[in-house]
Amino acid sequence: MAEQQQKKGRIVTGMRPTGKLHLGHYLGVLKNMVKLQDEYECFFFVADWHALTTKYNCTENLIEDTKNVVLDWLAAGVDPDKANIYVQSHLPQTAELHIYLSMITPQNWVERDPTLKDLVKMIRNGENDSKPDVSYGFLGYPVLMSADILSFNVDYVPVGIDQVAHIEITRDIARRFNNIYKTELFKEAKPLLTNIPMLKGVDGQKMGKSFHNDIKISDDEETTQKKVMKAITDRSRARKDDPGHPDKCEVAFEYWKAFASDEKIAQVQKECIAGQRGCADCKRELAALINEELRPIRERRKYYEEHPAVVEEIIKKGDAKAQEAAEVVLKEIRKAVGMYH
Ligand code: TRP
Repeated sequence: MAEQQQKKGRIVTGMRPTGKLHLGHYLGVLKNMVKLQDEYECFFFVADWHALTTKYNCTENLIEDTKNVVLDWLAAGVDPDKANIYVQSHLPQTAELHIYLSMITPQNWVERDPTLKDLVKMIRNGENDSKPDVSYGFLGYPVLMSADILSFNVDYVPVGIDQVAHIEITRDIARRFNNIYKTELFKEAKPLLTNIPMLKGVDGQKMGKSFHNDIKISDDEETTQKKVMKAITDRSRARKDDPGHPDKCEVAFEYWKAFASDEKIAQVQKECIAGQRGCADCKRELAALINEELRPIRERRKYYEEHPAVVEEIIKKGDAKAQEAAEVVLKEIRKAVGMYH
């Protein structure tokens, strides 16, 4: 199709099902996915197998968490007519490729994966009780991720900086595959790094569910307002008509910068410095702005929550498209490896 040919290439990216997504995800990842779906042929998936690498023994919320990720994507504007949304465990081709890749990946490559090293340390120190042990599957985390990426032989992988080491391993594995099997099948998938703004939680720490400092995309307006009112401001400011310091305002002004227009940001800054804007009023206005931006998103989420069959259909269609595309690649892979195909 003409439209397909104008795209800048094929991309895949996954997100582990950790529950309902927050504003940090929205600003950093989801908005980017919505933009990318117009520019690339997209495969977006929920990495439920990756969830098992650390939480194989606590799966009671896995299905719901997986669905919530999809709901938040759809709410944020990921369009199933533009991007293929699928569930990792619905793609047997990835599991098969994981086996081929695991055979050719030297043990020390996975052991030196820096992201895994940190996780292993945490597990061994008992710092995270949902990760009971370092399993064989856990060590295969980067190999499984390579299988996700190479199942589609993509050009780019949109990820945060913390995942770049995994993309490098993917490239090493792909190169090794090409060498061993004397083929040029795999391209070099490159990370598509986005300038992702890190949004702090209302308490000034990293925003995260486990820190109880996050604002969820799916929160209602009242909850959002209550949470925004807790956002840390300029700790040195005693009275509301004291001159404020936006540069020392730890959280609230960061949120203004993330959500408001340049003009509005300048106005807030000016009024704060002049002592014309008390922190409580400022945050009330900020909450209203955030709620306004999220209103259409929350309405869309509600629609999909109330129409689960529509969501199931979207996933089914995405699964089928992903299987079709991956099967084309897998046929070549089986041939290259020398399998009885
Ligand atoms: N490891 C990624 C994360 O924790 C999720 C992921 C799994 C992924 N497979 C992927 C991202 C393939 C990009 C491509 O965020």
